[in-house]
This record gives sequence, structure tokens and C-alpha cells, in this order.
Amino acid sequence: MTKLAIMGAMEEEIEPLLAHFENVNIVEFANNKYYEVNYNGLDIVIAYSKIGKVFASLTAATMIEKFACDTLLFSGVAGGINPELKIGDLIIADKLCQHDLDITAFGHPNGYVPGGKVFVETTKSLRDVAIKVANENNLKVIEGTIATGDQFVHSTERKDFIQTTFKADALEMEGASVAVVCDALNVPFFILRAISDSADMDAGFDFDEFLKSSAKNSADYLIKIVKEL
Ligand code: ADE
Repeated sequence: MTKLAIMGAMEEEIEPLLAHFENVNIVEFANNKYYEVNYNGLDIVIAYSKIGKVFASLTAATMIEKFACDTLLFSGVAGGINPELKIGDLIIADKLCQHDLDITAFGHPNGYVPGGKVFVETTKSLRDVAIKVANENNLKVIEGTIATGDQFVHSTERKDFIQTTFKADALEMEGASVAVVCDALNVPFFILRAISDSADMDAGFDFDEFLKSSAKNSADYLIKIVKEL
């Protein structure tokens, strides 16, 4: 690896990362700020994309094509689906899908468009480092499926659809789009999330309450992983 990209979607998701670094150089590009640092002898570019699949795709592609990052790690929060995942718990995606991608009218499965695939897998070697770090630090991490869509999910009806259709363990609004970009450009990546809510009728309240603490859980774990890369 020569340059590492670290992404979040919201400012609150990268703030606890930036807190670890000194001598940050800010580059403005495409209506966004990119924070360049050197840490542990590693060149790193950090950015938050803004919420949703379009902004996340733009930022991931920019970090790879303009900033020449050759590995990408994502840190942030997610809504829990798997009942084992409580607020604050960590999940690493082994694969991701787009739960709102729907051309079923033409006989295709949910999450599929021609030329694409329903599930994009994350890079096993990076997941292995993450699991090793979790074991060494006594952190509980679930490896599972993350479903992404341009919706803040706050109903059991939608949550149940995503669980039943994709067997997803957690859901959020950026991961699968970052996965599609990294997969297409052959860039190793992983998506890490800490649970902020359960995507049910209390989700809006819980998200506001736990965004910062869960984002910090994810960021603190990610920094431990970066030290092992
Ligand atoms: N990220 C965190 N919680 C979420 C939810 N309930 N829906 C979509 N994205 C989320």
C-alpha cells in the first residue's frame, strides 16, 4: 500500500479520526475537503462524503483517481438488523448490497441491474487484519451483510423487507456504493460500522442520541487497525 483512504459519510464520523492526527493538510476539491496526514509512516487521505450513495461514490472515486489512494477503509454508524447487534456494537461487512435498487418490474432480483451484482464482497485480507486486532483487544465484532440505500430506515416494515430479501445484518446509506467503486477500480477496501439505532420507530431518536459515541467506537477501532497495516 502506498496511500490509504479513510472515509466517513458525516462530519461526526471523521471527527474522532482526525482527533488522532497532527499536521493536517486540507485540500479542497469538488465541493469537499480532503484531509492529508502522515501517520505511522503511512500517507493517509481522510474525508467525509456527505450522506447517501451518490456523494459516497464521488468521494471514493476521487480518493482513488485524484489522490491516488490504493486501499480504502470506511468508518461510521449503521442501523442494526441482526438482534445480536446492540447500540455501540461493531460490524465489518463481508459483503454489501443496495436494498433500494429495484428493477424487479423486468424480472430481475432486488438489488440487481445488468452488468452489476447483488452482493459485492469486501477484501478478505483487510477483514482478517480487523478480526486479529479485535481479538487482541477483546473487541466483539460481527462479520456480516450490510445493506445500503438512500433512505434512513425507521420502520419495522422496511427493516423486515431488507432482512428477508438480503439476509442483511445492518443497514446504512453509503457502504455498497463505495464497494461498487472499489470493486470496479480493483482497490482493496472494507466497511466498518458501529450500531447507532435499530432502524425501527425509535431510530431517529436513537440516531441523534448515539451518533457521536458509536462513531467514536468505530473510529477508535479503525485507528487500531491502521496501526497494523
Ligand atoms: N445509519 C444509521 N442508522 C441508519 C438507519 N436507521 N437507516 C439508514 N442509515 C442509517
